[in-house]
Amino acid sequence: GGALVLGGTGAFGVQLATASLDTVGKVDFDRPLAIPPLAQSTDDPSGARVFDLEIQAGRTRFTDGPATDTWGVNGTFLGPTLRARRGQEIAFAVHNGLDEATSLHWHGMRLPAVMDGGPHQEVAPGETWTPQWTVDQPAATLWYHPHPHGKTAAHLLRGLAGMFIVDDDESEGLNLPQTYGVDDVPMIVQDRKFDGDNQFDDGATLFGALGVIGDHLLVNGTVGPYFDVTTRLVRLRLLNGSAARMYHFGFGDDRPFSLIATDGGLLPEAWETDRLQLSPGERAEIVVAFEPGETVDLRSFPTDIGGVMGRLDGFADKLDVCRFRAAESLADDTEIPAAMGAAPDLDLGAVAEERSFTLGEDAINGNPMAMERIDFGVRVDTVEVWEVVNDNGFLHNFHVHDVQFQVLEVAGEEPPPHLRGWKDTVPLIPGERNRLALRFSEYTDPNVPYMFHCHVLQHEDEGMMGQFVVLGDGEEVGAVAAAAHDH
Ligand code: C2O
Ligand code: CU
Repeated sequence: GGALVLGGTGAFGVQLATASLDTVGKVDFDRPLAIPPLAQSTDDPSGARVFDLEIQAGRTRFTDGPATDTWGVNGTFLGPTLRARRGQEIAFAVHNGLDEATSLHWHGMRLPAVMDGGPHQEVAPGETWTPQWTVDQPAATLWYHPHPHGKTAAHLLRGLAGMFIVDDDESEGLNLPQTYGVDDVPMIVQDRKFDGDNQFDDGATLFGALGVIGDHLLVNGTVGPYFDVTTRLVRLRLLNGSAARMYHFGFGDDRPFSLIATDGGLLPEAWETDRLQLSPGERAEIVVAFEPGETVDLRSFPTDIGGVMGRLDGFADKLDVCRFRAAESLADDTEIPAAMGAAPDLDLGAVAEERSFTLGEDAINGNPMAMERIDFGVRVDTVEVWEVVNDNGFLHNFHVHDVQFQVLEVAGEEPPPHLRGWKDTVPLIPGERNRLALRFSEYTDPNVPYMFHCHVLQHEDEGMMGQFVVLGDGEEVGAVAAAAHDH
């Protein structure tokens, strides 16, 4: 095909490949979908549930060719699914068996900043990090991934990531599919490019401004996966675990499915659709119904992003994701309840502060990320409204640590149904201006910041990130301890 050239300088003057990578019909679906094991845990004398996580290097065989050098948690690629209940105290021993520093961040979790696993909590090679907190948020599909300063993309692409499922009494009391790996299926969807020796090719950015767009899709590390369906209803916990690619999920026969949960947990009621778009870092739980004996493929369709962006690789592709093969007879004992979770309900009559964030070239509001700069403090238990603006021609999204927020407006309109639940990451399409309402928890430390950033990982790494603290009554913004940053 031809090539487009966007105007401008630097990253924006690169040539953009436009040949679409259409894999539909080219994937064999001959490998069973790997289901990440549930992490083992033990109860320590204080009553905390303790998980041991070993970050390690290894080799993983993805296809018939040679094995690939990879990183994983308690294995060679990705990590176990963590599972904890609301109200439970959990503790981790995170051992870094690599020969460089990394971190593990608990994306979507409300927790003290010092436990957050961001760039201020890097774990040196050979060291063990021991965060501990009490889970206090509704049932949700969260995830964990590395977050070292300037190296998040590289470390995630080597294989560090996993799912983190929070349970609560309310969700377990519903008759939704909830048998892990049987009718409740984690799906960590990622793309990779392999070089001639079957090694990950991180230099393979199809254009310089978004990062790696791979030409192979992996679900839980499986290339070309099939899943054998044994129940009429199946719940899929979809995670866009890619560095840059958007997915626009749907089934090959355009069958409807029900969105039941967004980043922060269950929706008040299911929303029926046949397409669902997820940007990097976002999660969605969907429930889909199968007929006995049928085969249907989950795909990613061209996104509904318009303009030049929407015509690029990674946005215009039609991709096979996973084949579902239904048994001749299907168990049928779950349902989608009429009422599930709670709708966002922040009090907009009492907004304490309004802020505006413009995402442009490698910076937010013109400031590139600096480890020692805390941009602002929010007052605990107050409601703030944040306007987030995409100021250049590229795809961004906006993620905030420690909080689930309410999307008030997308490009001046009421948010679409899939953005009406609790969210921690929201897409920011070129030219858009979105408004969010946020209320931060009681966890405070004026000297240890949380992050907010674009979750297109190359953008985050290049500086599209800032830092804030949550302040108690009468507290002022502190200073980042010098020792926290020696890069
Ligand atoms: Cu998913 Cu700051 O990260
Ligand atoms: Cu971005």
